[in-house]
Amino acid sequence: MTTLGSRGSFITFEGGEGAGKTTQIRRLKTRLEALSLACHVTREPGGTPGAELIRTLILDGQRPPLDALTETLLFYAARANHLAEGIRPALMRGEFVLCDRFSDSTRVYQGVLGAVPQATLDALETLVVADTKPDLTIILDIPTELGMQRAAARRGADHADRFESETFGFHEKLRQGFLDLARAHPQRIIVISAECDEASIEQEIWMKISERFSLERGKRA
Ligand code: TMP
Repeated sequence: MTTLGSRGSFITFEGGEGAGKTTQIRRLKTRLEALSLACHVTREPGGTPGAELIRTLILDGQRPPLDALTETLLFYAARANHLAEGIRPALMRGEFVLCDRFSDSTRVYQGVLGAVPQATLDALETLVVADTKPDLTIILDIPTELGMQRAAARRGADHADRFESETFGFHEKLRQGFLDLARAHPQRIIVISAECDEASIEQEIWMKISERFSLERGKRA
């Protein structure tokens, strides 16, 4: 059980495309707020005006992708701004920060798939994230084909972004990359199957959150 003084709790959600992270973050926020616990819901890349600008630059699916190192530096530039102006201030206020993707996405997308060396990612993480590491990371795991179908359905007639337009093989490696990370960090990362209905996934997440955090009504709001 994590009991925190004035610092809030930092929870990140990770996984492939179409896993339902955004929906589950919304549902968790509703549950926490029902206990008068304040939440800061955010996402990466983005979450602050400066980082959202960088997001537009990176995810533009209309032009050829940037090389993996340039992309990584842009993700970390966005993250530095997001930490300084969004995440750390919310943690200082004692809130729950629920973040849709964080540095584990860089590890998998740019590290495993983009072949950016682990030492480069370690150095950037030390510089930018420092001690603002997630208290808990939830990976929503979904079979690749189903995730790609869900992402396509959600997108409708919109253009696929930089990563949504990648192949089945890319998304399969992505899934394995996240599962490998979970095996490497069993204390911090839990894997939840995202195949069943939204309410059951919400319930499973809630059980894990209740086990790990002190949820006494209004204590940290
Ligand atoms: P999303 O908001 O739909 O999850 O889109 C963000 C995309 O950016 C998603 O395809 C994953 C990708 N991404 C990276 O490649 N590296 C990162 O560090 C982050 C945060 C996201």
